Amino acid sequence: MKKKIAILFGGQSTEHEVSIVSATSVLNNIDKNKYDIYPIGITRDGQWFCYKGDINNIKTGDWEKDEKNKLANGQNILFNREVDVVFPVLHGMYGEDGTVQGLCKLLKLPFVGPGVLSSALCMDKIYTKYVLEKFKIKQARYVVVNKNSYYDNKEAIIEEIEESLGYDVFVKPANSGSSVGITKAHYREELENGLEEAFKYDKRILVEEAINAREVEVAVLGNEDAKAAVPGEIIPAKEFYDYEAKYNNENSKLLIPANLNKKEEEEIKDLAIKIYKLLDCEGLSRVDFLMDKETGEFYFNEVNTIPGFTQISMYPKLWDASGKSYSELIDELISLAIIKDV
Ligand SMILES: Nc1ncnc2c1ncn2[C@@H]1O[C@H](COP(=O)(O)OP(=O)(O)O)[C@@H](O)[C@H]1O
Ligand SMILES: [Mg+2]
Repeated sequence: MKKKIAILFGGQSTEHEVSIVSATSVLNNIDKNKYDIYPIGITRDGQWFCYKGDINNIKTGDWEKDEKNKLANGQNILFNREVDVVFPVLHGMYGEDGTVQGLCKLLKLPFVGPGVLSSALCMDKIYTKYVLEKFKIKQARYVVVNKNSYYDNKEAIIEEIEESLGYDVFVKPANSGSSVGITKAHYREELENGLEEAFKYDKRILVEEAINAREVEVAVLGNEDAKAAVPGEIIPAKEFYDYEAKYNNENSKLLIPANLNKKEEEEIKDLAIKIYKLLDCEGLSRVDFLMDKETGEFYFNEVNTIPGFTQISMYPKLWDASGKSYSELIDELISLAIIKDV
């Protein structure tokens, strides 16, 4: 019997655009001889539709206008347990943050990727730091700023940041993804503007010392026996890897494999797997590091539990370079979802 797979795409986060491109790649490459596919589109305002139309209308957003092929109440596919596995190809809030995972769990439907706790934890850059600190994982120094207390004690908070971190700093909403709301501040005015910008996305903000670093990313796959692919490196076209540099600038490059010696490669792979396990990840995650250009030390940066998944995205390309093709990767993710507990 063919397994029935729901592919969720779109979603309510700032990364809707990225999700529809990732999902198009998954839909074009998943083995239709092995699986019956149920594409489910989620609009920016949170409506779920079962989508029966042309796959190529997904990445353009045109599927939303395709009234004939768009059936209301797509969530019923899950509620009626019409599928065997859910693959949430959703990035960011309401997709990668434990909410959809909680829904699947409630319905006892196996799903691809980490569970509720791990998804929620990894979505939050502040709590991820708190947990990894306990296990002495090296990370950039930071200060947490709360929106309410900021407006009550602005002067004192700015001074505290300057005293403990100096400049340059990165200002990040706790829940950000795809660099949305993230800025780099080189002096006070930029710090203040950066905080205002970040408060548009979250009321809890992480301010972090800027590391003069190369960016190295590790793709991890598996449940208890998780393995890491060959590490990759990002060469951003701009001062840092912001949204534009990630998705719209052809001069940003992925270097696969990363330019590391054998010892560095083993070190970072082991560290990535260790972090994956500490954060209770399952299925897949991409663990990202900043490698200090002078000392060569690795600083943990963040974990993406549903990393970019287009055919030219880092995660699938790292597995491809390690001998696992895009469709084999999808097969393995589905098997990993079925064997883990829900
Ligand atoms: N502490 C830091 N030092 C140097 N660069 C950083 C630092 N934090 C973030 N960056 C840069 O900003 C980008 C986005 O930050 P990141 O924490 O990865 O957020 P997102 O979840 O949005 O990808 C990184 O890819 C990197 O280019
Ligand atoms: Mg990142």
